[in-house]
Amino acid sequence: MAKDSSSKQTFTFPRTSLTVKRMGYGAMQLAGRDGNKFVWGPPADVEGAIALLREVVASGVDHIDTADIYGPHVTNQIIRQALKPYPKDLVIVTKVGARRGDDGSWISDATPEGLTRSVHDNLRNLGLDVLDVVNLRVMFSPHHPVEGSIEPQVTAMAELQRQGLIRHIGLSNVTPVQVDEARRIVPIVCVQNQYNLAQRGDDALIDALNRDGIAYVPFFPLGGFSPLQSDALSKTAERLNATPMQVALAWLLHRSPNILVIPGTSSRVHFRENLEAATLEVPVEVMAELDAMAGAGAAASSAAH
Ligand SMILES: NC(=O)c1ccc[n+]([C@@H]2O[C@H](COP(=O)([O-])OP(=O)(O)OC[C@H]3O[C@@H](n4cnc5c(N)ncnc54)[C@H](OP(=O)(O)O)[C@@H]3O)[C@@H](O)[C@H]2O)c1
Repeated sequence: MAKDSSSKQTFTFPRTSLTVKRMGYGAMQLAGRDGNKFVWGPPADVEGAIALLREVVASGVDHIDTADIYGPHVTNQIIRQALKPYPKDLVIVTKVGARRGDDGSWISDATPEGLTRSVHDNLRNLGLDVLDVVNLRVMFSPHHPVEGSIEPQVTAMAELQRQGLIRHIGLSNVTPVQVDEARRIVPIVCVQNQYNLAQRGDDALIDALNRDGIAYVPFFPLGGFSPLQSDALSKTAERLNATPMQVALAWLLHRSPNILVIPGTSSRVHFRENLEAATLEVPVEVMAELDAMAGAGAAASSAAH
């Protein structure tokens, strides 16, 4: 874990012309909540969400992660309202493979028809003719990757790419075996799984993807709905004159040069705080301390929903 991993501030998706800064933004927190229905309906402050998105782009962030099932539809519609006409260099990454139930549930929907419908939902609500990068979100379990062939779904994604609706394909919530299977069918430019200081199950996968120049984009980089909390992390942050969230993000950026971060927030104050993590230096000995925290179970994190 070289200190200079984070000094490489940009990443080019393999065999593409798409280069992004490694500090991106995750848009899921922009949707509202209705009782037990998370990521549901409009946010309490739509104008605030629009102002946040405009600040994200004005700050130089050029990678936004979204999905049409956030809201559903709402988050993409707010992105379109806030940012269209889109800056030339903005890369919007979205995902397909699920739909929302009326009760707010997240339901697998990865038939060729379901994937096609979802791609068109994204195109319509984002106001685009073609999607830059689309992740196939595998839903064998909504909570964590589960083995099983994804050949039919990846083949359907390749067909949507052939039709010109998708430029590049990524995967989400997948095992290393599934990544290999998909790569035999179509080029994969990124993988989006749950990973953070406390959830280190993908360490080997990250290193393998890095060897092949494929991006790894951790979701729940700050722990998700219940952000990371630990005394050890807070103490380290104090020593670095930073906040725990900044250290959690800086650790990811130092962890490997193929990691792109997409912290999610509905708050402009939190966004500004998170952005500063891109320039936070983490000395090698502090990286070692942070690495040890996961092993010691010192950092607490929420489970993926
Ligand atoms: N592929 C998938 O299955 C999947 C699953 C989940 C998420 N995602 C993507 O990953 C992105 C990131 O994940 P996420 O948003 O769920 O989780 P996250 O980035 O780990 O954490 C978001 C939570 O942290 C809080 N937060 C953010 N910055 C903070 C700060 N500086 N100080 C204190 N609290 C802070 C947010 O609250 P505030 O709004 O109050 O700041 C929110 O509660 C999402 O936006 C989405 O695009 C993908």
